[in-house]
Amino acid sequence: MSVAPAFDAAAMSLSVDDAALLGRRAVLGPAYRLFYEKPFAPVRGLDVWLYDAAGRAYLDAYNNVPSVGHCHPRIVAALQRQATALNTHTRYLHESVVEYAERLVARFPAALDTVMFTCSGSEANDLALRIVHEATGRRGLIVTENAYHGVTAALADLSPSVQSRAYRGAAPGGAPALPLAPHVRTVRAPDVQRAGLRGAASGPDVAARFALDVRMAIADLQRGGVEPAALIVDTVFASDGIHTDPVGSLAAGAAVIREHGGLFVADEVQGGFGRTGGVWWAFERDGIVPDIVTLGKPMGAGHPVAGLVTRAELLADFGARRRYFNTFGGNTVSAAVGLAVLDVIEEEGLVERAGVVGAHLQERLAALALRHAEIAEVRGRGLYIGVALIDPDGGPGTERAIGVMNRLRERGILIGLCGLDSNVLKIRPPLTFGVDHADLLVGALDAALGEA
Ligand SMILES: Cc1ncc(COP(=O)(O)O)c(C=O)c1O
Repeated sequence: MSVAPAFDAAAMSLSVDDAALLGRRAVLGPAYRLFYEKPFAPVRGLDVWLYDAAGRAYLDAYNNVPSVGHCHPRIVAALQRQATALNTHTRYLHESVVEYAERLVARFPAALDTVMFTCSGSEANDLALRIVHEATGRRGLIVTENAYHGVTAALADLSPSVQSRAYRGAAPGGAPALPLAPHVRTVRAPDVQRAGLRGAASGPDVAARFALDVRMAIADLQRGGVEPAALIVDTVFASDGIHTDPVGSLAAGAAVIREHGGLFVADEVQGGFGRTGGVWWAFERDGIVPDIVTLGKPMGAGHPVAGLVTRAELLADFGARRRYFNTFGGNTVSAAVGLAVLDVIEEEGLVERAGVVGAHLQERLAALALRHAEIAEVRGRGLYIGVALIDPDGGPGTERAIGVMNRLRERGILIGLCGLDSNVLKIRPPLTFGVDHADLLVGALDAALGEA
């Protein structure tokens, strides 16, 4: 359905004075950032559509949390049903959390047989760090140069992207970048375009370069007296600008860190639950089995559900020495919601759909690139697609990308930006996006590029 179902704002008596709301927002302090030159204030979500208070529909090509579609009736019903019956924690025996854990591990390679639940992707990554440290007895960590892994103090050290040019520029006074912590090294993402490599034949080159970077990072840690504990990567390299192809880099990086006694942590908070099309997990494209996989965002379709999946043996030391209790992680309502999300993904065939619709969208975007010289590359998999824009001199088209994103918002289409230079249009809609929605997006993007 490429035309949004009508939404009667008046009937819901939703009238918001956005300007006044913007002023009142000061109560939240200066650390938050809003999207778009003209902030967007949705009041209702329905499948791939968001509505403002005036009832105007916006096509959501950005949000991966409601990846089964905004306010999916089956998820809402499951939440309501369980919230009405019981909401308790993992200190009581309850069928739902065990069933959910069983259903989840069944979606992973057999070696990854144990689940722990948290409330956010950050908590999942933070817990992964504790397990890594316990299992290896080491501290050294390697991430990509524009990575984002979460909000805790430990993860702020592993998230250089929050200090990237675009973010710093938006901060009051544009604070200077902070140096990396002594136990952290960064490597370049496997970025074909930035490396000046091209095409399918570049696969081994890109993977080899990534492996060499990891090797050098390990050597540099060791020079500083720190042994490598883990390589942690977002398996779609989203904040680095979306790099899923050519395949081989995840496998190459994992091999190097393991050769040096460290672990490979796959952060699937972005790439998980069918996002890349045809497979449930983005790491599957490289045919590898990570040591720990962290999960979040789409896992609860908006309800805060997250966790990690690993080998039982890796948890042995951690479990023997530490007690783990997360008040809300794995509560009965979250488990019911998580189970409903799995049901919807499976029954609506969303993993396969993401592959089919994503391929169509990439094809249409590639055709658009033939007519717009500012499109340097269209990349990604499934419904995680990046469109890299350049300036006439070949440099990153940061201002261009910001302009296009804002013009699309004016046209009723929501996308975001990513990449080291914030010049990559980030297209990451709910997995219920259809071919007609994709066509609508491409038409609007064509017009928005033309207006530049
Ligand atoms: C790759 C990745 N890891 C971890 C996180 C943190 O997840 P959360 O915001 O749920 O704490 C994010 C959030 O954007 C992410 O993109």
